[in-house]
Amino acid sequence: MEIAPLDVLSDLSRMDTVMMIGDTDTGKTTMAHTVARESVANGRTVAIVDGDVGHPSNGPPGCVSLTILDSTEDIEELPPPSQLHFVGHTDPSRLALQQVVATVSLVTKARELADLVLLDTTGVISGIAGQTLRYHETELVRPDRIVALHRGGELEPVIGMLTRFFDSEIVDVQTPAELKPSTLEQRDNHRRECFARAFAPPLATWKVRPTVFAPTLPAGLDLSRIDGVLVGIQDGVGACLGVGRLEYGDDSLRVRTNRGEGMSGLRLGSLRIDPDDFQTTPLNLHEVMFGL
Ligand SMILES: Nc1ncnc2c1ncn2[C@@H]1O[C@H](COP(=O)(O)OP(=O)(O)OP(=O)(O)O)[C@@H](O)[C@H]1O
Ligand SMILES: [Mg+2]
Repeated sequence: MEIAPLDVLSDLSRMDTVMMIGDTDTGKTTMAHTVARESVANGRTVAIVDGDVGHPSNGPPGCVSLTILDSTEDIEELPPPSQLHFVGHTDPSRLALQQVVATVSLVTKARELADLVLLDTTGVISGIAGQTLRYHETELVRPDRIVALHRGGELEPVIGMLTRFFDSEIVDVQTPAELKPSTLEQRDNHRRECFARAFAPPLATWKVRPTVFAPTLPAGLDLSRIDGVLVGIQDGVGACLGVGRLEYGDDSLRVRTNRGEGMSGLRLGSLRIDPDDFQTTPLNLHEVMFGL
C-alpha cells in the first residue's frame, strides 16, 4: 500500500521542517516514519518531535519528545528520546500554552541537532483547542511543508485557516479507507503501557521540599492535596529528565521516579496518576492550591 504519495516525498532535500496534521489514527506517525526513512536513506540526520501528549510514539505521555534518527534501524526501533519537555496533561485539548512551548522548544533544539525536523502532532484538529494549537505551532515553527492527512473534509477548516495566515506548502493526503480508528480502550491501554515504561523499576523515592515547584506552592498549602500528582523532573538548565509521582505521608512529601539523578526542581502536572495501573485523573491546579 502506498503510504507516502510522491508529493509528500518530493524536494525533501530542500526542507528543514515538515509537520504532520490529522485526526486521530489517520496515519500521522506512520507518515513521519516514512518520510524519516526516505531522508535517512539519503544521508540526512532526522529529528522527530512528537507533540502527541496523549498517544506518544516515544517517551512518556504528558510530554513532548525529541528523537534523533540517523540510521534506518533507528526507524524500525526508535532509540530513546534524546530530550523531553514536560506538558503535564495527556488530553491535548488542555494546557495549550504548555503544549505549544514544549513543541516549539524541542523543534528549536531539533534544528541544532538534525538536518530535517519532522513534527508529529496530536489528533485534535478542530474546535478552538485544535485550531489554536495548530495556529500557534505553525506560527512559531513555520514548517516548509504541512502534510494534512484526512478521511474526508474534516481538515478543511484548519487548512483554510493555515492557508490564509501562513505560507507553508500544504500537501493533502487521503487516509486509506481500511484504516479504522482505534477504540478508546486501545488508546487508554497504549497510554498506560507508555506510563509503565516511564515508571519502570528501579524507582527511587526522594524527599522533596515544598519550595522546589513550578508553579510555586502557596505558603501553608496542605501538602496532602498534591499526593499522587504527576510531575516533570527538571534539571537546573531547563531540561526535563523524566516524570515522577508525588507521594505524601508521615508529614512529608516525596517523589517517586527513576529519573531523580540531577533533579533540581519539579513541574506540577494537572493529573493524578495511580502507581499500580497508571490510570490518570485530571485535576485543576488552581483548585488544588487555592480551593474553589
Ligand atoms: N497508509 C497506511 N496504510 C495502512 N495502514 C496504515 C497506514 N498508515 C497508518 N496505518 C496503520 O494505522 C494505524 C494508525 O496509524 P498511526 O499511528 O500512524 O496514526 P496516527 O495518526 O499517528 O494516530 P494517533 O492520532 O493515535 O497518533 C497504525 O496501526 C498504522 O500501522
Ligand atoms: Mg501518532
